[in-house]
This record gives sequence, structure tokens and C-alpha cells, in this order.
Amino acid sequence: MNISHIEHIGIAVKSIENSLPYYENVLGLKCYNIEEVTDQKVKTAFFKVGQTKIELLEPTSEDSTIAKFIEKKGEGVHHIAFAVPDVAESLADVASKGVQLIDKAPRGGAEGLHIAFLHPKSTGSVLTELCQ
Ligand code: CO
Repeated sequence: MNISHIEHIGIAVKSIENSLPYYENVLGLKCYNIEEVTDQKVKTAFFKVGQTKIELLEPTSEDSTIAKFIEKKGEGVHHIAFAVPDVAESLADVASKGVQLIDKAPRGGAEGLHIAFLHPKSTGSVLTELCQ
């Protein structure tokens, strides 16, 4: 595994529209992209903080994993995403170390990235994403 940096931090919100004023007016960040990821049933909004991004995740459907997360835990930090040069290789590496995977193979995420999630059972309850 060869993590270069934290690619983004995912934050579950009920409404991107209602969350924007805090990020833009209080923190002074600029939302540079809003994008719907249909297969994950979320709308995402991105802010750059150095080379790391904040990714707001708003559910677009009641059966979205983000909707279920908010229902259980409320709004807040949802996952942390590490940048790696090769997601497939990193998945094989962590799997060989006994880590449970949510995604056995990389899939498409927002911003054209290849992503895969590790299971919180194996990561101290922190939902962890690898992306390239
Ligand atoms: Co993410």
C-alpha cells in the first residue's frame, strides 16, 4: 500500500443547498463542482482544501446508503478517502492482510475516479475509501 495523501473526506448531509452557506460563507471555501452519482444514489458537492477535498454527500433516494447513515447516526463525517496509485493492487494487498472489503474490485466514483471501500469491521469502524 502506498498512500500519497488524503484525497477527500466524505460528509453526509441532508441537503447540500442548506449546507453550502457554512462551507462557503463561514469557512470561505468555494464549491467547484456539484455532481450526481446515480449508482450510489447521492448528489455530491466538492471543495478544495489544499490537495484534499471535502465531499458533501446528499442522498437522492430513501434507500441510499447515505440516507440510512443519516437516519442512524445523523449528519456528519461519513468516510475518509486515501489516494493510492493503483486501487486494484491496494485492494489485493489489504485483502491479503485479512481486511474485509465492501468492493472486491474498483468501481467508478464521482469526478471520474476509481474507488473501492473497505469494510468498517476491519478499519476500526472508519469507513475507508481508496481512490485513484
Ligand atoms: Co468518497
